[in-house]
Amino acid sequence: GLVENREAMLHGLQEGVVPLDPHHRVTVANDSARQLLRLPADCVGKDLAALAVGPALKDVLTQEQADPDRLVLVGERLVVLNRVPIRSRGRDIGTVTTLRDRTELSSLERELGATRTATDTLRAQAHEFANQLHVISGLIQIGEYDSVVQFVNGATLDRTRLNDEVTSRIQDPALAALLIAKASLATERGVTLQLDPASALGRVDDDLSRDLATVAGNLVDNAFDAVAGLPEGNVRVLVEDGEDEVTVTVRDTGPGISGVGLEEIFRQGFTTKLPGTAKPGSDSGRGFGLALSRVVCRRSGGDLTVANDNGAVFTARLKRRRPQP
Ligand SMILES: Nc1ncnc2c1ncn2[C@@H]1O[C@H](COP(=O)(O)OP(=O)(O)O)[C@@H](O)[C@H]1O
Ligand SMILES: [Mg+2]
Repeated sequence: GLVENREAMLHGLQEGVVPLDPHHRVTVANDSARQLLRLPADCVGKDLAALAVGPALKDVLTQEQADPDRLVLVGERLVVLNRVPIRSRGRDIGTVTTLRDRTELSSLERELGATRTATDTLRAQAHEFANQLHVISGLIQIGEYDSVVQFVNGATLDRTRLNDEVTSRIQDPALAALLIAKASLATERGVTLQLDPASALGRVDDDLSRDLATVAGNLVDNAFDAVAGLPEGNVRVLVEDGEDEVTVTVRDTGPGISGVGLEEIFRQGFTTKLPGTAKPGSDSGRGFGLALSRVVCRRSGGDLTVANDNGAVFTARLKRRRPQP
């Protein structure tokens, strides 16, 4: 009767539903939930510890959360979880978590990576331009008219030079646009972004192009954070075009990775930044960027690694897809 009805209803739902009892044992899991969370067929009655559920996911399923919509990367999927406590006659009888597959990884990448480029560029350039106007108006006020001319010429020259450097070496439009946008952001943040002159990249397919922008974007953002406030903050990007893989190396003059193991920083949810301090549109402080970037690299058959060498050095290897025979 009622129980079968409830089960049938749960199984028909597009959303995943996972009720847990107070001991964190799974009481029911519908098909969507099993799929999204990769739960085994015999999960009902088992507690989360026995189910090899990843730590980030386990936290969301069991801990008190202020934030209703929680994002978790499960394998290559981005899952949104919402959890509510269930009380009956004044007693806690567990929780129900609902899950939605908000995006395929590709749309997450779009969100975190490439499409932000255009708005980033415009915002940063507007800001930079406003600063330059201040300088110009200052120079005019003190009567330094020759300096105005020099300044205006210099400002356009700098920008043109960087744009030329990037577009002459990086044929992939998404990565080129990303680097140009990040260079504007660098100026705004008082650090320098350089493209290593040994860089070269020809045309790549759409998937690789998107992956490159995602990974490079996340690594450069992190590098900016690492050198923020340092007097000579510098970030250097090297892009190398190999026969079966593309390598992106991002090197910064920040403090490097210290205090934690080099692998620790790739764990989803690991962050040393304060959440909420991130600028709007930035995903800083969620501990997502490196976990996501590593999934993207590994999915292609490559990898993402880090070393310390007068700062952090991240090396991302992305394999080209073999053309289908
Ligand atoms: N270039 C870097 N230099 C020093 N530490 C870094 C660098 N990149 C990442 N990290 C460390 O790794 C953590 C995780 O990075 P990430 O996954 O991008 O998340 P988030 O940027 O949201 O903190 C950072 O909080 C920081 O502690
Ligand atoms: Mg980051």
